[in-house]
Amino acid sequence: MIIMAPVLLILLGATEILQADLLPDDKISLLPPVNFTIKVTGLAQVLLRWEPNPDQEQRNVNLEYQVKINAPKEDDYETRITESKCVTILHKGFSASVRTILQNDHSLLASSWASAELHAPPGSPGTSVVNLTCTTNTTADNYSHLRPYQVSLHCTWLVGTDAPEDTQYFLYYRYGSWTEECQEYSKDSTGRNIACWFPRTFIHSRGRDWLAVLVNGSSKHSAIKPFDQLFALHAIDQINPPLNVTAEIEGTRLSIQWEKPVSAFPIHCFDYEVKIHNARNGYLQIEKMMTNAFISIIDDLSKYGVQVRAAVSSMCREAGLWSEWSQPIYVGFSR
Ligand SMILES: *[C@@H]1O[C@H](CO)[C@@H](O)[C@H](O)[C@H]1NC(C)=O
Ligand SMILES: *[C@@H]1O[C@H](CO)[C@@H](O)[C@H](O)[C@H]1NC(C)=O
Ligand SMILES: *[C@@H]1O[C@H](CO)[C@@H](O)[C@H](O)[C@H]1NC(C)=O
Ligand SMILES: *[C@@H]1O[C@H](CO)[C@@H](O)[C@H](O)[C@H]1NC(C)=O
Ligand SMILES: *[C@@H]1O[C@H](CO)[C@@H](O)[C@H](O)[C@H]1NC(C)=O
Ligand SMILES: *[C@@H]1O[C@H](CO)[C@@H](O)[C@H](O)[C@H]1NC(C)=O
Repeated sequence: MIIMAPVLLILLGATEILQADLLPDDKISLLPPVNFTIKVTGLAQVLLRWEPNPDQEQRNVNLEYQVKINAPKEDDYETRITESKCVTILHKGFSASVRTILQNDHSLLASSWASAELHAPPGSPGTSVVNLTCTTNTTADNYSHLRPYQVSLHCTWLVGTDAPEDTQYFLYYRYGSWTEECQEYSKDSTGRNIACWFPRTFIHSRGRDWLAVLVNGSSKHSAIKPFDQLFALHAIDQINPPLNVTAEIEGTRLSIQWEKPVSAFPIHCFDYEVKIHNARNGYLQIEKMMTNAFISIIDDLSKYGVQVRAAVSSMCREAGLWSEWSQPIYVGFSR
């Protein structure tokens, strides 16, 4: 890397000279976009916009734009249109650059960069919340045929170590185009909000959008720094345990059956684990499977405890969390 860097610089320098002065007749000189702006359009979401340079000669070529996000997390992509939506945390500020490019199979011509930035929101150090964690779970909504499943959201956090005693925190979430403020807070002993519960949300449990959560606050003594975080639903969704687990013994066959959990995901979307506990010798058998039934051959007169748990399989979404085990049911004899 150390050896590469100067070489790269020389190459870049050469390209720029080529663009500026020594362009062969069939090459076009590229000018940077103008009026580049970054606008906050929602919680943890910005819209980047720019205009083609009015002095740019077109000459029937397909100009594109290269967008580079510099902070809070580097990203780099190309687009043909003059705006771009970005979902990202904003409490550390945001900065991006854009340039005009012309590419063909052999080469990339590029203008200089146009840049813009959003400053980090103000606030005293140590006043923002820390350790923000959120989970979702799903319940059946028997009263709505349009939306048979309701997703609830629960978030907790710790008060900033330097937040004054009179600090009050407020939590908001955004999912897609919906933003809501928390209505049901839990408080610590000094009355500061430290958790929030939304019994119903606009979160789509099978959706792939990021869940954006913001906690800001106010105090008479200092400005409270806001904090925002993005959550992937698969990583925070607490799956319900399987339903209606039954088990029976016929001869040497222990057959176990269950139903899929309460969930917006269809039946083929689940992995299961079955846990069979032999009460006589303490032996535990754990089997992983994708069907809703399991038969175990037993050769032991014993009492068996049976539990099943579920997870959404990677066929339907990125791997996530296992549910709790179902309540144990018992079959067989105890001696
Ligand atoms: C850039 O913004 C200025 C001021 O708002 C405006 O007058 C001008 O027309 C814009 N340029 C382009 C190319 O849109
Ligand atoms: C908060 O998060 C930090 C860093 O992730 C961790 O070291 C700390 O143990 C957490 N504190 C609590 C009380 O969970
Ligand atoms: C969903 O989560 C909330 C809060 O964590 C909890 O009170 C509730 O019992 C959960 N519901 C289900 C169906 O698991
Ligand atoms: C829907 O019905 C089920 C079964 O009757 C019940 O357990 C559940 O609590 C109901 N859910 C709501 C949101 O009323
Ligand atoms: C917190 O953020 C929300 C949503 O952006 C905003 O409406 C509200 O005014 C902010 N509150 C404070 C105290 O900064
Ligand atoms: C569970 O069993 C009950 C009673 O047999 C039945 O009414 C219910 O529909 C079953 N639940 C599912 C999800 O099949």
